[in-house]
Amino acid sequence: MDVVILGLGYVGLPLARAATGAGLTVVGFDTDASVVASLAAGRSHVDDVPGDDVDRMLASGFHPTAEESAIGPVDTAVICVPTPLSTDGGPDLSAVIAATRTVARILRAGMLVILESTTFPGTTDEIVRPILEESGLIAGRDFHLAFSPERIDPGNKKYGPHNTPKVVGGFTPACTRRAADFYGRFVETVVPTKGTREAETAKLLENTYRHINIALVNEMARFCHELGIDLWDVIRAAASKPFGFQPFHPGPGVGGHCIPIDPHYLSYKVRAKLGYPFRFVELAQEINATMPAYVARRVQDMLNEAGLATNGASVLLLGVTYKPNIADQRESPATPLARHLHALGAKLTYHDPYVTDWSVAGVEVLGTDDLEGAVANADVVILVQDHDRYDADALARIAKRFFDTRGVTTTDDARRL
Ligand SMILES: NC(=O)c1ccc[n+]([C@@H]2O[C@H](COP(=O)([O-])OP(=O)(O)OC[C@H]3O[C@@H](n4cnc5c(N)ncnc54)[C@H](O)[C@@H]3O)[C@@H](O)[C@H]2O)c1
Repeated sequence: MDVVILGLGYVGLPLARAATGAGLTVVGFDTDASVVASLAAGRSHVDDVPGDDVDRMLASGFHPTAEESAIGPVDTAVICVPTPLSTDGGPDLSAVIAATRTVARILRAGMLVILESTTFPGTTDEIVRPILEESGLIAGRDFHLAFSPERIDPGNKKYGPHNTPKVVGGFTPACTRRAADFYGRFVETVVPTKGTREAETAKLLENTYRHINIALVNEMARFCHELGIDLWDVIRAAASKPFGFQPFHPGPGVGGHCIPIDPHYLSYKVRAKLGYPFRFVELAQEINATMPAYVARRVQDMLNEAGLATNGASVLLLGVTYKPNIADQRESPATPLARHLHALGAKLTYHDPYVTDWSVAGVEVLGTDDLEGAVANADVVILVQDHDRYDADALARIAKRFFDTRGVTTTDDARRL
């Protein structure tokens, strides 16, 4: 085997597909036996990798396994395991540490080890390297070590693993070159950095930049509403400037992994190491986290204007995933929004072509397949996620009340965030 990929999720599986497609033999190691079993049967659990691709990968020698003993000798190990937050809101590197220990047990002289999981600056050097060096082999001398952030954008039809430039930072310049050669086999452009910390921080800068700019327009959404200014029209006009401005849009909150979670890794490092806050990140978190409650308030106001109480009102949520046209529900703002509405006594139902079951705080929310019927019957409909399946203007016209959190409606029958 040429490569072992540890963690076969949203990041690891597309990487395994790209490496297999480049003619490399890949063993995929995942501690979740059900993930491995379904991949071995040709089924994919990742939106961007269809089952047919998994079949092709298996035919090209891709070997998914949950058994460490099945990994065997490899030239390269790539770690793509989750980096969530711990219960106290700090980084939880337990999966990175466990996966690094697995690599340490198979480490041989001449190997290349790459960490792809998003994490705070210093992780590769201060956490991964010492564990690997417990083997007696020394990074930069006996094996190569690098960090390369994953930039995958689930559901993006234009930019995938092959045409999204890959940032690569090695522990030494030779480590950078070796890792760049590895990715150069299946990625069009490799962008080397000075070292591992620069590559780690580049990823966090990208995500923090979006987090902050989304918070900016979310804050503006509130006061523009009070001032009677259509912020969506403002953004459209500002975006006509061909330089120096990139449009961001308000919404019901931020979801996925990159925006709500990753900036915590950077603010944690700044606070833990330097003792002061990363104020932009903390402010952005505060603003973005209050958006679900703000949407619930606006919906409450809408019902109130019609003389209706939220308590007992039927509220239909359209789209509960964190991005359009995918099934991923991680950190979706639909969940806290549902919690707020539920606390106000609303009777919730949802529609989402990508989600068959949906529970909030352990309570199952009733789903419906009859989109038009449910829209017409609900006291208020909230467009939470704008899947392509929805014709928002047409739905707003048949709804009693329609609240559009994505700014996609043009009809006066809808109220926009
Ligand atoms: N999903 C994205 O869009 C995205 C984009 C860029 C970066 N990232 C980053 O990439 C990393 C992986 O994210 P993901 O979305 O692929 O996560 P994921 O949850 O989809 O998949 C991770 C997989 O790793 C497995 N795993 C956990 N511990 C393991 C271990 N010790 N050894 C082997 N496998 C183990 C899990 O069972 C799971 O299948 C995270 O750091 C994330 O922040 C994710």
